[in-house]
Amino acid sequence: MVKFWFDNFLVKKLGYAMTNADLVRGVARRFDIPIMIVGPNVFPDRVGIFPDHIDEIAARCPKKRGFIVTDKFCVRYIKKIIDCFEKRHNFIFEIYDKILPECPTENIIECGKAMSQFEPDVIFAVGGGSVIDGAKLSWIFYEKPDFNVFEEFDVFTTLNLRKKAFLIAIPTTSGTGSETTAAAIFKVDLGEGKHMKAPIASPELKPDYALLDPTLTYDMPPKLTAGTGLDALAHAIFGIVGPGSNDFSDALGLQAIKMIFKYLPRAFRNGKDREARLKMITAASLAGICFDRGGSTGINHSMGHQLGAMFKIHHGIAVGLFITYGLQFYYPLTTKYLDICEALNIRDDISNEQSLKNLCDKVNQLLKELDLPTDLKGLGISRTDFEEKLTELAENTLNDPTSFTSPVPLDLETYKLLYSYAFDGKDVPLDLILQ
Ligand SMILES: [Fe+2]
Repeated sequence: MVKFWFDNFLVKKLGYAMTNADLVRGVARRFDIPIMIVGPNVFPDRVGIFPDHIDEIAARCPKKRGFIVTDKFCVRYIKKIIDCFEKRHNFIFEIYDKILPECPTENIIECGKAMSQFEPDVIFAVGGGSVIDGAKLSWIFYEKPDFNVFEEFDVFTTLNLRKKAFLIAIPTTSGTGSETTAAAIFKVDLGEGKHMKAPIASPELKPDYALLDPTLTYDMPPKLTAGTGLDALAHAIFGIVGPGSNDFSDALGLQAIKMIFKYLPRAFRNGKDREARLKMITAASLAGICFDRGGSTGINHSMGHQLGAMFKIHHGIAVGLFITYGLQFYYPLTTKYLDICEALNIRDDISNEQSLKNLCDKVNQLLKELDLPTDLKGLGISRTDFEEKLTELAENTLNDPTSFTSPVPLDLETYKLLYSYAFDGKDVPLDLILQ
């Protein structure tokens, strides 16, 4: 049985305290993000008047060898990237286009081997969250071939990356924010047809550059647009409400939230809406930076992960559904949600409870605009199926790594209660934590 870093007793017991340690006054805070290049022309294949980011990247690559990590769908986008670097700086490329959804470990090892054979000095990850996470993890295999990241990594590991290559993330969806974050998620085969998703996080995994080209997101179908956009909304909201948030991350998260409410319905209705796509790819990165700093996505992601895994529901749609339940559950812990209400102009002058209700109503309204339900029944899960699987679902959620960094520790019964409220679309009692 493979042991993971989050199987460590200390992480399970102290994850909450570690996440909250940032709250101690006087502790110096770090805030670093990739170099962000945003716009519909981030891959110019001609030299401009002034040196640009393409020249800057090329100057960092003595061998001019680029390795592209992508999947069978996104491989269609790589021509413009290759053309630009080939024409302007004589790069040569190798392509690995076999990354699978949720990135199984065997997939990462294979990609890492291909990378090691080619010996690039820059890695381009072109795709959604799975591709970018797959590139991050394969990169570790390339840099440290004798280090089994899946089994040997722990929260105190120093990876010492960037001795051989650096990483450029080029997202083709607007949601995961992986192009800006220190996290990577992979899928482990547990045997007997069972799998689990496991995360690794290290500041070294943050890409060096995030090149945001909205034209790469035009092909996303409406349902994927809705799911990825809601994932970004959940990151921004719980990044702000999360214990590790600070003024830098809050500012970005609030801007992301305003943009998502305004532009996600437009991108959903018309995938070729250029302004909406530009705003959404930007908002997803802002939200990614926000939750990377916020330190916890709380029950929203622990429940979303496990519900999604058990009932085959898209990550963003699952976590989007739990946004309101998470806000209600954490209500006694923080007043940070009032900042979000203020940004959206829905704060009630007298009642905090009313402000929270206004925010939950606004999220539910967005779900309706995206043709998505606000409860589990609406996802097509039958009551019999739900009741049969509830205990297993709650147990899996309790063991989800994001549970260990929830701002308050949860037990099995609390998770079962929360799932039951979400199944029927009932409000979570605002004093549940205190009971
Ligand atoms: Fe997410």
